[in-house]
Amino acid sequence: MNLKNSTIVLTGASGGIGTAVARALAQQGAMLLLVGRHAESLDALAAQLPGKHQPVVADIASDSGRRVIEQQCAQHGEIDLLVNLAGTLDFQLFEQQPDTVIEQIINTNLLSPMLLTRRLIPLLKTRPEAAIVNVGSTFGSIGHPGFTSYCASKFGLRGFTEALRRELADTPIRVFYLAPRATATNLNSDAVTALNKALGNKTDSPQQVANALLQLVNSNRHQHFMGWPEKLFVRINALFPGIVHSALAKKVPLIKQYAEHRLDEK
Ligand SMILES: NC(=O)c1ccc[n+]([C@@H]2O[C@H](COP(=O)([O-])OP(=O)(O)OC[C@H]3O[C@@H](n4cnc5c(N)ncnc54)[C@H](OP(=O)(O)O)[C@@H]3O)[C@@H](O)[C@H]2O)c1
Repeated sequence: MNLKNSTIVLTGASGGIGTAVARALAQQGAMLLLVGRHAESLDALAAQLPGKHQPVVADIASDSGRRVIEQQCAQHGEIDLLVNLAGTLDFQLFEQQPDTVIEQIINTNLLSPMLLTRRLIPLLKTRPEAAIVNVGSTFGSIGHPGFTSYCASKFGLRGFTEALRRELADTPIRVFYLAPRATATNLNSDAVTALNKALGNKTDSPQQVANALLQLVNSNRHQHFMGWPEKLFVRINALFPGIVHSALAKKVPLIKQYAEHRLDEK
């Protein structure tokens, strides 16, 4: 897809991956609508990017926030690409996770991108070539202890992406799914970072995710799962879930230690 002079809505722009994605897209000559809840961080980001970009202060989890984004897009006149990147994570045993946190995870990671996407499809449809990128996770394909609600949200996002891609197959809109593995951002608490280290999980940089996103939208593929061996585990889990179940079930005592902050017991 030709990004030069394109107009792109980027949610989660102020986050670790969002900042890298914003820079990569701006360097391609795109004009960005930078969506987040905090004006200062969006203004600071817009000021450091090449070109002219528009901060949009909006909570994607509220109807009024999504309306603001839609209005800004309509005012701008056209959008070529929507990147649903905003997300939230809470590493916690499901039994101990408060209802409000579960609701927030499902709302932010699944329901809000669905509702925002539905609002913006009519604008995207008017373009000769348009796209939607939904940013999921390796945990959108592998159910992992300690991340049950997050996994549910990202599994849902992956299913939404696949169904929508097929539903829009007779339109100019392409629908992509990008699944990063662990990435070095503030999304991951110290406990998550320590757990990843203990499990030997590799961590990518936000720049690597931004590069993967650019490559994906310029490719003829629909989806990309980042990292080796993570992409292999995704396939093994799809074909032989029992193997992955046994491997992860053995790690549960260790995962519980990190989830319950009993790190001193290691
Ligand atoms: N980091 C990882 O290890 C990793 C791995 C796989 C997938 N991912 C996915 O990548 C995406 C970005 O993650 P990240 O690591 O960059 O996280 P991050 O640094 O914590 O950034 C999260 C972003 O989402 C925005 N956001 C959260 N809730 C929002 C809401 N209700 N309305 C509007 N904006 C909201 C935040 O902006 P404000 O707080 O300013 O509103 C921030 O810009 C997420 O979808 C995440 O699930 C991350």
